[in-house]
Amino acid sequence: MSDQPNQQRNQDLQSVTGEDELSPRIDVDIAGIHFENPVLTASGTFGYGQEFAHLIDLNRLGGICVKGISAGPMEGNPSPRIYETEAGMLNAIGLQNVGAERFLKEKLPFLRTLRTRCIVNVFGYSTEDYVRAIEILNEGDGIHGYELNISCPNTRCGGMVYGNDPRLTAEVVAASKKAARYPLIVKLSPNVTDITELARAAEGAGADALSLVNTFVGMAIDVETRTPRVSNITAGLSGPAIKPLAVRMVYQTFRAVKIPIIGMGGIATAEDALEFIIAGARAVQIGTANFYAPETALRVADGIRDYCRRKRTHLAGLVGTLKVPQAGTGVVAAPHAG
Ligand SMILES: Cc1cc2nc3c(=O)[nH]c(=O)nc-3n(C[C@H](O)[C@H](O)[C@H](O)COP(=O)(O)O)c2cc1C
Repeated sequence: MSDQPNQQRNQDLQSVTGEDELSPRIDVDIAGIHFENPVLTASGTFGYGQEFAHLIDLNRLGGICVKGISAGPMEGNPSPRIYETEAGMLNAIGLQNVGAERFLKEKLPFLRTLRTRCIVNVFGYSTEDYVRAIEILNEGDGIHGYELNISCPNTRCGGMVYGNDPRLTAEVVAASKKAARYPLIVKLSPNVTDITELARAAEGAGADALSLVNTFVGMAIDVETRTPRVSNITAGLSGPAIKPLAVRMVYQTFRAVKIPIIGMGGIATAEDALEFIIAGARAVQIGTANFYAPETALRVADGIRDYCRRKRTHLAGLVGTLKVPQAGTGVVAAPHAG
């Protein structure tokens, strides 16, 4: 692998020639994990997989990222924990989960029966917590990778403090990488001034890949009662409202690091996913859309395949191929007014 960061290729697609009807390859390798297609379900929006087994064919998913797992079980925040906004939703679930030991006993055996890759999202309040959770999970067979959540906006300490501070990011990533038996994907917070600083810190500390973005801190108020819509007061915003912000962050991060990126934030269609891929994501995750259309990930994968066939390219040939018409860098420090 080169020492240089990814380069936006800014070129016409290298079309595959010589085959009448191209059967495009949309499988991807990320951090040594082979995904049959580049569409995964996002942590916290797809339970532990089994909850969706009666709704879609789970074997057709590229991967399932399970709900964030901590060393011990956690109850999460009191209700109300979810509020629908104009173009998305606010949630403050607070990382409710069964804990690493019960996950291995009660949830992993089902996931192991699938062909789909199983990524376990890991969460802690301290570096020792993260390492402890990973040490317990290491005992389980059938896990393909970890996704380290250093970016949850809904807990009073821990998660987002790590995700905001390059030094703490490096500390928790280095310790987790050392402990981990499986590849380590680090999930970044968008609630930062410069996401590339955190991306570089995670890469420098040994992350095998990055995923972005988690939810944006938001808030909604019931003006009749003058109370917050969500009991935690602030909550994480997800869904279509955040998509342009997330695409921009994937674009910036792609140019700052050389490890692969998994993009997410408001994806509901193949076209949404393709924006992330052209910006630099090698794979994508579907989150909020699972709540109202559980078949979204399958539809998105089919749509990516159709697009590749139409453009006569394999998926790998599309990643980071944004064409910038003029010579500029394309990234502006602040939005232009007017
Ligand atoms: C209800 C809910 C719970 C979530 N729980 C987690 C979690 O446990 N760990 C995590 O890393 N991200 C969690 N997320 C964030 C999503 O995985 C995803 O990063 C975010 O929602 C953006 O994608 P989307 O707009 O497609 O939903 C959660 C999101 C929602 C809506």
